[in-house]
Amino acid sequence: MKSAAIKPIVLAVDDEPNVLESYRVILEDTCEVRTATDGTTALKYLPHEDIRLVLLDLRLPDMEGLEVLRRMKEIDEYIAVIVVTAVDDVKTAVEAMKAGAHEYVVKPFDMEALQTLVSRAFQHQDLMQEVLYLRAEIEESQSFVNIVGRDEKMVQIFELVGRIADSDVTVLVTGESGTGKELIARAIHQQSQRAHKHFIAVNCAAIPEQLLESELFGHERGSFTGAMQRRIGKFELAHGGTLFLDEIGGMRLDMQSKLLRVLQEREIERVGGERTINVDVRVIAATNADLLERVKAKAFREDLYYRLNVVPIYLPPLRERRSDIPLLVHHFLEKYNRQFNRQVQGFSPGAVEGLQAYDWPGNVRELENVVERLVVLRTHGVIQLRELPIDLRSQHGRLTDQLSREGYDLREALQHFEREYILDVLRKSQWNQSLAARMLGVHRNTLLAKMELLNLR
Ligand SMILES: Nc1ncnc2c1ncn2[C@@H]1O[C@H](COP(=O)(O)OP(=O)(O)OP(=O)(O)O)[C@@H](O)[C@H]1O
Ligand SMILES: [Mg+2]
Repeated sequence: MKSAAIKPIVLAVDDEPNVLESYRVILEDTCEVRTATDGTTALKYLPHEDIRLVLLDLRLPDMEGLEVLRRMKEIDEYIAVIVVTAVDDVKTAVEAMKAGAHEYVVKPFDMEALQTLVSRAFQHQDLMQEVLYLRAEIEESQSFVNIVGRDEKMVQIFELVGRIADSDVTVLVTGESGTGKELIARAIHQQSQRAHKHFIAVNCAAIPEQLLESELFGHERGSFTGAMQRRIGKFELAHGGTLFLDEIGGMRLDMQSKLLRVLQEREIERVGGERTINVDVRVIAATNADLLERVKAKAFREDLYYRLNVVPIYLPPLRERRSDIPLLVHHFLEKYNRQFNRQVQGFSPGAVEGLQAYDWPGNVRELENVVERLVVLRTHGVIQLRELPIDLRSQHGRLTDQLSREGYDLREALQHFEREYILDVLRKSQWNQSLAARMLGVHRNTLLAKMELLNLR
């Protein structure tokens, strides 16, 4: 918030008017100077004026200078206070610094030295501002703002996340592939008091079964062939933080038992190790499999299921929250414009419609990939419907998906297709039947008969 036009305001506090006058002379060119001859008057300035720096005498007629300093810091923790005093005493200096003084100067002071001190204090303040800003930026970039969603179902999930983040309860996140399970897990971590510690993700399905135990719990040197060195497991790495167990559904039964024990005891044993190690870890598990089905099929331990499923979060597929699609498209457009240094302005209304109508079997991840590809291929302008991948823009692709999902047989499916197709052509010809018949390559009477048969009016 630097501005060349506006001079920073300095408040000079001293019971001697000639000292105040000399401050004015020294600083007038670069600052606006306010003055006060006692503490009460000085403190009255703070809530009303944007005082950036205070030159403060410690001996004031009405109150202790240190008290004034403390109260100023209470009102504005970022205000810079330079203590200027006749008291040349280390103890007082230490007290002043402890109370938040920026510098301690002993009278009589050198004019130039004071000027330098003041401008350095401003620089320091600017730097602090910058740091605060950057910190806020980073926090923001890692927190909820990156999860997009206004659909009722998503809003409820965000609220739930906010409510449970700070407790250490175990969470089971379910939902189809690409619905944002990991993103939600990260959001829980970031909103919790564990945020400053690690978020460790383990994809249980991606690790060979025989290695998963050592991956999770670590191992001692020589505990098995190839274990050349001690290895710290993910549970230990996540100590104080959050462990995200992704694709938990595929975990082998013997590993499930081991995991259950760890969740109950809150302690682990490294493979080949002799001692137990306490771990303070919040566990979030995720799966796109139907765990309850797997429990019924005896492929997943029921007791582990209940251990994990303390708070269930189900992320609905994207096709069940279509109103979020335009928001997500915009979000990813911005993201990839930034990443690839593009100035793509947006999508045409038709393109947005196409994106919204598609069924997104790969959910948000698929949508993100589509937008990424489109942005990479362009430098600017508006993306049109015809640029979308073929299965997104053709009714046909979507319809076949729908039809197979509904379980239609071939005859029914053909009938549905015929109906949709004729309807589409009729719309395009603005219900001009002769034109539509020509476009379809049939006699007008045939079209009329079909319309009758297919109940198209
Ligand atoms: N609501 C959302 N807002 C913004 N980005 C999202 C949202 N949901 C998902 N994404 C993005 O989509 C991608 C897929 O999300 P994520 O990896 O969390 O899905 P997942 O459910 O874990 O998928 P899988 O089951 O395939 O592992 C990520 O790049 C993520 O940032
Ligand atoms: Mg995932």
